[in-house]
Formats: sequence, C-alpha cells, structure tokens
Amino acid sequence: MDRIGIIGVGEIGRAIVDGLCDGVDQPPKIYLSPRGARTAAELSQRYPNVHVCADNRDVVHRSELVILAVRPQDRVEALAGLRVSSDRVVVSVLTGVAISELRRTLDTDAIVVRAIPLPSARERRSVTVTCPSHPAVDDLFGSLGGTLTVADEATLNVFQVLTATLTAHYRYLATLTDWAARQGIPAEGADRYIRGLFQGVGRALGDDTRSLQQLASDHETPGGLNERLRTTWFDPANAEALAKVLDSLLSDLK
Ligand SMILES: NC(=O)c1ccc[n+]([C@@H]2O[C@H](COP(=O)([O-])OP(=O)(O)OC[C@H]3O[C@@H](n4cnc5c(N)ncnc54)[C@H](OP(=O)(O)O)[C@@H]3O)[C@@H](O)[C@H]2O)c1
Repeated sequence: MDRIGIIGVGEIGRAIVDGLCDGVDQPPKIYLSPRGARTAAELSQRYPNVHVCADNRDVVHRSELVILAVRPQDRVEALAGLRVSSDRVVVSVLTGVAISELRRTLDTDAIVVRAIPLPSARERRSVTVTCPSHPAVDDLFGSLGGTLTVADEATLNVFQVLTATLTAHYRYLATLTDWAARQGIPAEGADRYIRGLFQGVGRALGDDTRSLQQLASDHETPGGLNERLRTTWFDPANAEALAKVLDSLLSDLK
C-alpha cells in the first residue's frame, strides 16, 4: 500500500517512519497526526514523502492503511469521531486493546490487525508479531525487519508479555556496572566493559544454528564462575518468581 497514515507520532510512530523512509529509494507517502508536533515536524522536514495532517480525520481520509500508535489511555480521545470505511486497513500497536474494542470504537467493519513493532523498526530490524495475517501488513512489517504472524490475540498477548522484559534487562546491566563501580572501577570503564560484554551476547544471538540452551552451555566452564552465578542466583526459585510475574502480566492482558 502506498499511502500510510500514523495516528500518534511518538517513539514507535517515529521508528516506523524512519524505517520506511531512511535511505529508501521509493518510500510510501506517509500522513502523520499533528499531536507530538515536534517529532511530526522534524520527520516531515527530513523526508519529502512525509506530511503532517490537520487532524486525525484527515489522516484516515488520506491513507489506505492507518497505524494507530497512541498510548492506550489516549485511545478514546484519539479515535473519537473517526469514521473508517471498510476499504481501509487499520493496524493497531496499542498494548492490550482488543480488535473487537477498536472495531466498536471506530464503528467500522474494516480489517483491523494488531501488531507489536519494536523500536528497532528504525533500523529495519524489528521482528513484528501480527494478528491476524494480512498481506499488506505482512509486507509493511516485512520491510521493517520481518513479520511473525500468530493465529489469535491470546497468542499475541504472550509475545506482548515478552516485550515487557526489556527494561529489566537494561536495569540488570546497569546494576552490574553499579556493582563494579562500588568495587572501585571508574564508572566509565565499567560501562564500556559491560556494553562490550553484552554486545558479544547480541552477536552470538544472531547465530540461530545454536539453541539458547546451547549458547548458555557453550559460554560456561563446568565448575566455573558463570555456572556458579547461574545456579546460585538464577536458581529455580528465581526462575519461578519470574514466571509468576509473566503469568500475572498475561492475565492482566486477558
Ligand atoms: N515504545 C515501544 O517500544 C512500543 C512497542 C510496542 C508497542 N507500543 C505501543 O505503541 C503505542 C505508542 O507507544 P510510544 O512508546 O510510541 O508512546 P509515546 O512515545 O508516548 O507516543 C504516543 C504519541 O501519541 C500522541 N498522542 C496522544 N494523544 C493523541 C491524540 N489524541 N491524537 C494523536 N496523537 C496523540 C502523543 O502526543 P503528545 O506527546 O502530544 O502527547 C505522542 O506523540 C502504545 O500504545 C504502546 O503500547 C510501544
């Protein structure tokens, strides 16, 4: 589809625009909602194919495929009074908002697809979970790193919970550098070292010929320091506590 609208131009809306436009020969025409004015203005100045619309209705009017990317709590205000005709395709990236609710709010029988794009869509490296499958949506996210289509919204929610583990991971890394600093390592050196260490993990994850279990054991000397930390800190009780929080997030999404 050649005319794409985005309602809600924040972190994820911007990542999608960058991914679709940056260095791309023939990018689609993109119509942005006016809220998040600074980001929208910046994007329209950077890319000649990007236009800021007068209001959200105008975005819907001009676009074949409309991406909803406001915060879930802003959806009522953002979608109020919009009429979406049945020939449009709506893609919602709103966390935890069901397709049936969006259809009711938009009073439409247009196709509504839910998606979970990641900020790495900016570098066209987001594997985006979508539900249900739709060729135009699969193409769109295919061009931003890949599409993983799932059969139903219950399955999509499981992936949504997985995305919630990201900031705890960054905080884990920050906790390691804080600990090193407390041992007298200059903060800058600790930070540089931890980044390097875990960039190596990122590269190793690119090797999909090895399972995650295999990668773990390949990095572990029997009886060594890694094994000791894993078995004493990330022990069954810790793993169970993590699973319990994941269960609880999933049950809230239902
Ligand atoms: N960030 C992620 O990694 C990620 C990943 C997957 C899914 N999501 C989902 O994506 C959605 C957006 O997340 P985000 O992180 O991009 O949020 P964000 O950075 O806060 O951006 C939301 C944008 O929506 C704008 N907005 C608010 N009310 C609006 C309205 N009535 N009409 C049009 N635009 C309006 C906001 O403008 P103002 O700044 O003027 O308020 C802001 O620019 C959320 O539903 C989230 O669950 C996010």
